[in-house]
Amino acid sequence: MKEKKDPKILEKRRRILRGIGIRLLLVLLFIAMAYGANNRLEVTEYTYESDQLAYAFDGFRVVQLSDLHNKEFPKDNAPLLRAIRDQHPDIIVMTGDMVDASNHTNIDAALHSMKQISEIAPCYYVTGNHEHYLSKDQLEPFLEQIAEYGITVLNNETAEIAAPNGQTFALIGMDDNSLQANILKTLADESDNEFQLLLAHEPQFLEDSYAPAGVDLVLSGHAHGGQFRIPFLHKGLLSPDQGFFPKYTQGCFRSGDTTMYISRGLGNSAFPLRLFNHPEVVSITFRVVK
Ligand SMILES: [Fe+2]
Repeated sequence: MKEKKDPKILEKRRRILRGIGIRLLLVLLFIAMAYGANNRLEVTEYTYESDQLAYAFDGFRVVQLSDLHNKEFPKDNAPLLRAIRDQHPDIIVMTGDMVDASNHTNIDAALHSMKQISEIAPCYYVTGNHEHYLSKDQLEPFLEQIAEYGITVLNNETAEIAAPNGQTFALIGMDDNSLQANILKTLADESDNEFQLLLAHEPQFLEDSYAPAGVDLVLSGHAHGGQFRIPFLHKGLLSPDQGFFPKYTQGCFRSGDTTMYISRGLGNSAFPLRLFNHPEVVSITFRVVK
């Protein structure tokens, strides 16, 4: 004869199973959200108007990539490469920390991604703090290798970007260790170009260094959007060198006649998770207004 179970025990078991099910669902939801937050790319498009740019650069497009930190996107970087190609960039600029010297030490992953990116459009690159965390024996071969891919390394140097009609603008690239040094002002003063675009990894020197140098536009990264974006407040939580609730984490800033766009970057460093803060490709289209 079958023993009849106590309804109270059955109800208790059901409640335990329901609790386990809900917790499991929440864990799966969090994993899915975290995966999406770290891998679903956002492309942010800006139109930058200037009366300093030569007419030939009306419609010129710059795609900015930053803070890859050796990250590889799924399926051999397919979403990243597609996002870049879809913008039809005239040039691609990489504003540092493409490698990572903390947790994700696979430099070959960064090299592979940078080779793929270099096949899309002419590329220009400056170092971030993480490149300088590498040993000399790691950094020098890395820089030589990306130069072999055709990526122009700007180490306190200025490149002239030329349009087919010969008009130019200055692209100044600063090494991350020199962002506050007088050399930026010297480079800006030496350039004959009316329009100067600066690549500088760290955004927090806008008012003290970049704007006083007189450059027109700055592209920067470093802050990873503040790692966690706080919903509704439109603020980041934490950034290296700026602490909690940092000022410079993403978007557009102005100081005097200088405009700065900050990328939230593509990867993570020591802390492996972003929240409400998708990896970002920045695309800037120039408009000439005279
Ligand atoms: Fe970074």
